[in-house]
Amino acid sequence: MNGNQIRKKYLDYMAERGHAIVPSSALVPENDPTTLFTGSGMQPMVPYLMGETHPKGTRIADSQKCFRAEDIDEVGDNSHTTFFEMLGNWSLGDYFKSEQIPWIYSFLVDEIKLDPERIYVTTFIGDKALGIPKDTESVELWQKLFSKRNLSSDVAEIGSADNGYKRGMKEGERIFYYDAKENWWSRAGTPDKMPIGEIGGGDSEMFFDFGTPHDKKYGEHCHPACDCGRFLEIGNSVFMEYKKTESGFVKLPKQNVDFGGGLERILAAVNDNNDVYKSDLLWPVIEQLQTISGKKYEDNLEAFRVITDHIRGAVFMIGDDVNPSNSEQGYFVRRLIRRAVRYTDVLGVNSGQLSNLARAVITIYEEQYPNLSNNAENIKNTISNEEEQFRKTLEKGLKQFNKISLQIHLTSKEVNGKKVIDTSAKPIEVKAISAKNAFDLFTTYGFPIELTEEIAQEKGLVVDKKGFTKLMDEHRAKSRAGAEQKFKGGLADHSNKVVEYHTTTHLLLAALRKELGDHVHQAGSNITSERLRFDFTHPDKIDSDTLKKIEDEVNKTISDGGSVNIEFMPKSEAENDETIEASFWDRYPDEVKVYTIKNPSNKIVSRELCGGPHVNDLSQIDGVFKIKKEESSAAGIRRIKAVLE
Ligand code: ALA
Repeated sequence: MNGNQIRKKYLDYMAERGHAIVPSSALVPENDPTTLFTGSGMQPMVPYLMGETHPKGTRIADSQKCFRAEDIDEVGDNSHTTFFEMLGNWSLGDYFKSEQIPWIYSFLVDEIKLDPERIYVTTFIGDKALGIPKDTESVELWQKLFSKRNLSSDVAEIGSADNGYKRGMKEGERIFYYDAKENWWSRAGTPDKMPIGEIGGGDSEMFFDFGTPHDKKYGEHCHPACDCGRFLEIGNSVFMEYKKTESGFVKLPKQNVDFGGGLERILAAVNDNNDVYKSDLLWPVIEQLQTISGKKYEDNLEAFRVITDHIRGAVFMIGDDVNPSNSEQGYFVRRLIRRAVRYTDVLGVNSGQLSNLARAVITIYEEQYPNLSNNAENIKNTISNEEEQFRKTLEKGLKQFNKISLQIHLTSKEVNGKKVIDTSAKPIEVKAISAKNAFDLFTTYGFPIELTEEIAQEKGLVVDKKGFTKLMDEHRAKSRAGAEQKFKGGLADHSNKVVEYHTTTHLLLAALRKELGDHVHQAGSNITSERLRFDFTHPDKIDSDTLKKIEDEVNKTISDGGSVNIEFMPKSEAENDETIEASFWDRYPDEVKVYTIKNPSNKIVSRELCGGPHVNDLSQIDGVFKIKKEESSAAGIRRIKAVLE
């Protein structure tokens, strides 16, 4: 069974169980300032998990495009990828554990025929201090399912992963209780990391046993949550039923299910091969790369994997209108392409071949994602242009090599029978790449360390790789902390303010259209609790008088007051209704929500397609609307940053 077939089988299976199948949202979330990219299937569902009504009902399933920027430096092993697809199904206050667990298990063993002997599961051990009980219900459900198939079903109380490494697994054990680090899920991670207002819950994960030998580098013994590669997590049912409040965790009004399973990982299990690059969603790109490089995948695993992963990520990003640039998301696309270029150099591939690899990616995915083939020329050109531009920068980077030198002590002496460097001896000037140089080459010019080493070797230079690794570790720790910070400042923290900004954004668009004309449409939106940022189609700079008029218009609407109403309707109907303003039609399911804002004399101020959430009444918007900046964002696109002061 190939990747496209598994995706289809899953969606059909969920449709048979009453789920509405919705299209994937874009890789860059609309109106969710908590993350740069959609990193899990549930992100676009957050408003609905929090209680908004979904236009398609209470059972939803999809295959969501995801991108995990934080994994970019991990790519190179057999399972990490930056881009992946997550199969997902959601119960929005509908079914719960007793449906989800048997359904997803039967999908794995009956539909895609994974060997039941090789599936192991984990559940949440509970947290007394937080008042969250142990998930015995999931354990009972699993035991019943395993007994029916005459499988062992002993339960192990593991707790922490550390304990898992000490204790290992005993014969007959198939169900494992872990603590919140392993079996709790929220966008922010463990309960302590969640901001007030964020939702989460215990989860039950399924692992496939590839049977490979345990690697003691990770710990003494293997267990399902061990990272050695023997066990791969292929699915996670999160029981989203809690919300964090000032006074602790409270139950949400409804119990939700949030299931996510990595398509490539499920495919790896089906193929019984834990190298995800060997699956048909990635292998054709590897094959083409073998042809154009004349090198073998097996001999150059890291380079092949980085190029393949990065080119796929770049294709999907550009397909979603994220182009290489130096700001936010665009920077990641730039990094993906540049790193891929460097690694093609390592393989000795001629320049200009990346766009052909992009074509291979598009061919694999065009049926499921027609936006890729519709955009194929643009995607290929963007990649070629970026490669060309980078090669110019690169020349400058290579010149750096010739300037770099370092003083080192090469003389050693014996102290207590041990050889140590003699720092009192005269240092020798050698041409060398210091840790800092290597790090700068990596961050500024995108040189992977392997490439730095290679060029250094050619030039007879030494590289301080140990120091480089240390700087990289520090850099990773910093960016992780940054990611957590980003989360803290986001949506969940001040959700009311974000909702106010969201409605204000609709008022802004209405005012822009009124002042500038009907050619103005949304081209992008990004909202935090501090400000709104809105991109729209308009060719010229807007003069300050007009900006003032727009500002006054929005403020007048807010102070006049008015109501915000939601309608649900088929997308086809909305598309034909000229009174409804919308962009990005293809990102919406075939049933949509329309938000209409009316002033007190019942006149329509704004009528827009949107996922919400919004304030119910304009009186809930607090503050005076002020435009802080108007600037160009891209050709034909202007950007406004504004606040409620
Ligand atoms: N949201 C859950 C995850 O990403 C399913 O693992």
